[in-house]
Amino acid sequence: MATLTCERFGKAFASPLVLASGPAGFGVELSAALDASSVGAITTKTITPEPRSGNAQPRLVDCPAGAINSIGLENPGIESFVRNDHPAIERLPIPRLLSLAAASASQMSALVRRVGDLDGYEAIELNLSCPNIGGAITGADAGAVGEFTRAAAGESALPVLVKLPGDTGNLVESCEAALRQGAAGLTLINSLRGLRIDWSTGVPCLSRIYGGLSGPAIFPIALARVYEVRRAFPETVIIGTGGVSDLGSLLEMLLAGADFVGLGFGMMVDPQLPEKLCGKLETWLDDRSFKSVQEIMGLAHSGGFNVH
Ligand SMILES: Cc1cc2nc3c(=O)[nH]c(=O)nc-3n(C[C@H](O)[C@H](O)[C@H](O)COP(=O)(O)O)c2cc1C
Repeated sequence: MATLTCERFGKAFASPLVLASGPAGFGVELSAALDASSVGAITTKTITPEPRSGNAQPRLVDCPAGAINSIGLENPGIESFVRNDHPAIERLPIPRLLSLAAASASQMSALVRRVGDLDGYEAIELNLSCPNIGGAITGADAGAVGEFTRAAAGESALPVLVKLPGDTGNLVESCEAALRQGAAGLTLINSLRGLRIDWSTGVPCLSRIYGGLSGPAIFPIALARVYEVRRAFPETVIIGTGGVSDLGSLLEMLLAGADFVGLGFGMMVDPQLPEKLCGKLETWLDDRSFKSVQEIMGLAHSGGFNVH
């Protein structure tokens, strides 16, 4: 049977599937429905220095092939997280990535320092791309990306991943700034700014008007961003995230050059998605005599593979 194990950051992850930040919460509720052996890692909901109650309701609306959310980084804040949530997360039988966001580089460095003595995380993910909070998106400005990354990487003994937006700024420039300032990898992409209007009332559906679109609707955009960034940076670790929901989209993301594949909206539809995808991926690899999923990563950049 083909192996799905992926070795990155000096560690072996059971599969290339990573639960993306947000929909999986802190993983504790989800863990009963999950087959832990099918998940490479879980990313926590993003934590900020202070608690955030998030945006006013309504903050989630359906759309064809996805949903638009404007949760607004609701989270308990770092002190409550460390006291109340971290102990349960540390016991999850799945490797963990800790997602952090802050309003300035100096706040980010303090936040990373604060989590420095927590055990149980494989990497820190800097969320520089939330479309649902006030102000400009940090990840759209390569200079700011460099500053935030330097601030975090200088304080962290763990690898630092930088999560960037797919629809604003010059993505390759932002990736370059992150990697130059010490990022060990990139998470691409966050949800994309979207809007729905209730045509029976003429009023925008979300209280904050715009939100972030996720789900299969954004898959081709996420795929293009991953392909483009893999081409520019052949060696860096990439978590390709956006609209992956079935074997075909998973394979495409791997072929485009993702080392790991994030599942966000797909987990809201089916919490057993990782187990189902792993089963199908193993069969697909076996049928084509691949010994490991790592053999197909990035193959779209080198002429694909011979069909057996
Ligand atoms: C309800 C919801 C909450 C989210 N919260 C976060 C978050 O806290 N931090 C973050 O980095 N991304 C967050 N995201 C974005 C996802 O991690 C992911 O990047 C995006 O939705 C695209 O992937 P998908 O199409 O598989 O959902 C959230 C997405 C959704 C749908």
